[in-house]
Amino acid sequence: MLLKFPKNFFWGSSTSAHQVEGNNHNDWSEWEKQNCHRLALEAKDYWQAWQLKKFPEMLEPENYVSGWASDHYNRYEEDFDIARSLNQSAHRFSIEWSRVEPKNGQFNQKEIEHYRKVLQALSERKIEPFVTLWHWSNPIWIRDIGGWENKKTIAYFARYVEKIASELGSEVKFWIVLNEPTVYLSRSYIVGASPPQKRNILAFLKAYKNLAKAHNDAYRIIHEKDKDSLVGMANNLGFIEPKHKYCLADQLLSRLYKYIGGGRMFELTRGNYDFIGVQYYFHDVLCFYSIFRYLSGISHSRDEKKEIKTDLGWEIFPEGIYHVLKDLKKYDKPIYITENGLADARDRKRKKFIREHLIWVHKAIEEGVDVRGYFYWSLLDNFEWDKGFWPQFGLVAVNRKTMKRRIRSSAREYAKICEINQLESNE
Ligand code: BGC
Repeated sequence: MLLKFPKNFFWGSSTSAHQVEGNNHNDWSEWEKQNCHRLALEAKDYWQAWQLKKFPEMLEPENYVSGWASDHYNRYEEDFDIARSLNQSAHRFSIEWSRVEPKNGQFNQKEIEHYRKVLQALSERKIEPFVTLWHWSNPIWIRDIGGWENKKTIAYFARYVEKIASELGSEVKFWIVLNEPTVYLSRSYIVGASPPQKRNILAFLKAYKNLAKAHNDAYRIIHEKDKDSLVGMANNLGFIEPKHKYCLADQLLSRLYKYIGGGRMFELTRGNYDFIGVQYYFHDVLCFYSIFRYLSGISHSRDEKKEIKTDLGWEIFPEGIYHVLKDLKKYDKPIYITENGLADARDRKRKKFIREHLIWVHKAIEEGVDVRGYFYWSLLDNFEWDKGFWPQFGLVAVNRKTMKRRIRSSAREYAKICEINQLESNE
C-alpha cells in the first residue's frame, strides 16, 4: 500500500552544536576533560561483551573528548550539500550559546556572523532551518554561577535569546527554545551522569522551574520581534507502560514518570508553544524494580528478551511513536518529530527502523494527528555526550581521522521517501 504524507511535509535531519561543530569551550568540554579517564575505565563494567568487542574504542579516554567533533563548524556547506542531495527540505541545528556569548554580556559578533552564514547556506539550498537555542551545553560563566539552578540564568538566557532573535530572526521562522529539558534535568541532577553531575532532587526541581520559565520568556521575546515566527520545545517523549497492567504501584509509577518527563513541562509552559517537537527513542515498561535500575543509569531498554536492539542496547519499538503521537492530540497543536534515530554503525537496521517508524507516524496522521515533519537524528555521526563517539547515529558516516563523509545506504533509502513524500508499506 502507498502511504502518502501531507502536502508540504518537512523531511530532514537534526544535529546539535556541541555534538558536531568541534572546538567548543563550554561546561561540557571542561567536564569531558575531567571525566574521560573515569568513563573509559567504567566502560568495561557498564557495557555488555558484544558491545565491548564491537567498539573497543569505548575503553579509550579520547573517545570521551568532543575535540573537533565532526568538524561541522568548518564543513557545514559540504554537509548541507549532502542533505540537499538526499532530498531533505528542512534541517534542525543548534546555536552554541558559549560561542556567541563567551563572557557575561560580551557577545562575539564573528560567531553571530558564522550562524548567519549557516542560515544563508541552508536558504541557498532551499532547506528550511529549525533553530534550537539551547541543546544542553552552557557557557563556562553560566556554569560558574550554578547553571540552571540559579534564577539569574533565566535573565541571562533571555538576553542571549533577544540578541539572537534580533540578529538572525529575519532568517528563521521555526525556533526550538530548549532541547529535551527533562532529559537534561534527570541526567544532570538525578542520575548524575552529565554536568553538573549531581544527585539532588531540590536542585532538580529548581532547575526544572527555571528552564520552564526560560522557555516562556524566550517565547515572548521571539514573538515580540516577529509575531509570525513559530516557537516550540523539543520534548523527549517515550512510550511508557506499566509492566504489570493491574499493579497499582506500577501504574502510579508510570503516570508519575510520564508527568515529570513531559506532562509537568507542558503545564508550566502552557500557552507558550506554537507547535510540539517530539523526540522518540524509548519504550519504557516500568515496575518498581526497573525504575531503580534506571536511576542507577544502567539501561533504557526494559525488555531484556527483545532481540531487536540498537548498538546502545536500546529496544527498537516503532509502534510506540504512534501511541505518543495519539496522546499529544489533546494539546491541539501541530507536531514535528524533531528527533528519531538509532545508533547502528554497520547500517544494518537503519533503513527498516526509519520505514517502520514512518509507517506508524502515517497511521497517526490518518487518525487525525497533525504531524508536519520528520527529522532523523542525526545527519552526521557525532559526539554522543557521555558515551562519546562510538555510537553512530548518522545518515552520513564521519571518519574520525580524516573527517571524510560517507553517505550510508540507509540515507539513500530515506532520500527516496523524502523525494516522493510517500512510502510503500509492504515493500
Ligand atoms: C538528544 C541528542 C542525542 C540523542 C541520542 C536526544 O536525547 O537530544 O542530543 O544525541 O538523543 O541519544
